[in-house]
Amino acid sequence: MKSFYELEEYALVKDVPIMQKEGIEYLIDELNKRNAESVLEIGSAIGYSSLMMATHVKDLHVDTIERDDRRYQEAVVNIHDFNQEDNITIYHEDALEFDDTLLKHAPYDCLFIDAAKAQYQRFFEKYVPYLKEDGFVLVDNLDFHGMIFDIPNIKNRNTRALVRKIKRFKDWIFSNDEYDAHYVQVGDGLCIITRKDQNENRN
Ligand SMILES: C[S@@+](CC[C@H](N)C(=O)[O-])C[C@H]1O[C@@H](n2cnc3c(N)ncnc32)[C@H](O)[C@@H]1O
Repeated sequence: MKSFYELEEYALVKDVPIMQKEGIEYLIDELNKRNAESVLEIGSAIGYSSLMMATHVKDLHVDTIERDDRRYQEAVVNIHDFNQEDNITIYHEDALEFDDTLLKHAPYDCLFIDAAKAQYQRFFEKYVPYLKEDGFVLVDNLDFHGMIFDIPNIKNRNTRALVRKIKRFKDWIFSNDEYDAHYVQVGDGLCIITRKDQNENRN
């Protein structure tokens, strides 16, 4: 059987972006605390984070969507090698075009958005209806390696445009009337989002 160390090394050598260790450990803790049963992940890459979640949270099912052919194929092999076919369903689709009525394990305890950063808001709006009332959304890379704090000095035009979009999402979600967003300084900056009613009901 493959090990997580092998996946981490492979990702490093092949330049596959996977979640930082502290980030995925934080997510796993959060899922365990909430006795989560289901996660929808946007952006599987080679299956690393899905496998980490599925093997560290009891009775969890992960539905995950990946658009890239090669990464999808690699994820399928890894899910097989870790014997996790029963706990992970992977869809080979562009999440923005995917027929979301096909999602098998909705509603979800967690929506984990870890795909094209410029599209965060579109992923959020498309998939948040599939979140349980008391579920949470986790978004990774919100700081974009600290660049979000110094946009005018980003030399590359494309990067500057991308970081602007991330900032737009950040500003939008932090001033949203329906959702509470909390910044967590772990890894490359995480954001946990919950429905406002949920917190009001608790108080
Ligand atoms: C940061 S990687 C995901 C890493 C993975 N969650 C992990 O930590 O192991 C982002 C992935 O999202 C995929 N992606 C980007 N846009 C997408 C879209 N619209 N639909 C599905 N997958 C997408 C990319 O191909 C890439 O493999």
